[in-house]
Amino acid sequence: MTDFQAVLNSIYQDAIQATDKGVVASYIPELAHVNKENFAIQLRTAKGECYGVGDYNKLFSIQSISKVLALSKAMSLIGEDIWKRVDVEPSGHPFNQLALLEIENGIPRNPFINSGAIVIADILVSHLKNPKEDFLNYVRELAGDASINYNIDVALSEQSTGFKNFAAANLLKSFKNLNNPVDVVLDFYFYQCSIEMTCSQLSNTFYLFANNGKCLQNKLHITDRQVKRVNALMLTCGFYDEAGEFAFEVGLPGKSGVGGGIVALLPDQFVITTWSPGLNKKGNSKLGMLALQEFTTKTKQSIF
Ligand code: DON
Repeated sequence: MTDFQAVLNSIYQDAIQATDKGVVASYIPELAHVNKENFAIQLRTAKGECYGVGDYNKLFSIQSISKVLALSKAMSLIGEDIWKRVDVEPSGHPFNQLALLEIENGIPRNPFINSGAIVIADILVSHLKNPKEDFLNYVRELAGDASINYNIDVALSEQSTGFKNFAAANLLKSFKNLNNPVDVVLDFYFYQCSIEMTCSQLSNTFYLFANNGKCLQNKLHITDRQVKRVNALMLTCGFYDEAGEFAFEVGLPGKSGVGGGIVALLPDQFVITTWSPGLNKKGNSKLGMLALQEFTTKTKQSIF
């Protein structure tokens, strides 16, 4: 039996001593205030055991990690029709790159780069009655936690500086791959990305992807076939132009956000969340990636 707590403790000791902790994202001004010394890991096993080290009960901005939740909601609303508007290939480019979108006639490479996530946001805006309220309720239901919320300061901060997202949305609109007005879709998208969670809440929220579509409360939200697809996309596209590196070094489906969070999982076994706000050059948490690498090496638990 692996002593998970001992593994997490030793990873924590290595992480707090690291001299290079990466760079906190500042292109969303509100995120720049976050202290780079924060570090946390939280593990939830399929048997229901929970382990944690560091700041695993502190809230942080989940940012792009929300794209996985938006995708799963869109899948449950319109199923396979999503793939008429978004592809399922890794982009090999940064999350906010626009060149491919223009070359490929407004069909984003995958739902986790920003342009793809904006199309998914458009689908949610079209199909949810009260998009912001309904999406938040969905996330709260997955987490089994009604305290989860948007951070309006973060959403407005991104709204005032999100020029590339406005460019992406306008490009999508010009290719007729956006049905609602640009402002409406981006307003929803910025709120979606501004959701705050602790590592514990994030592990709970993602539990359904390790549990064949059933959330912690045992309610089925998406089919096991859809779970297979979400996990495949996390593995191939969850880390943008570092997806290959993450699969190579960690070997788990996962998703990062510029708030410094990473959530990863092994189907039927566990969900693990790390948070360290300093990012590497590809926009993924520097110490979070190292921590997960150490975790799968020490426990020998990965999909490969
Ligand atoms: O759209 C953006 O740029 C942010 N709201 C989310 C980007 C993000 O988290 C990329 N992940 N590593």
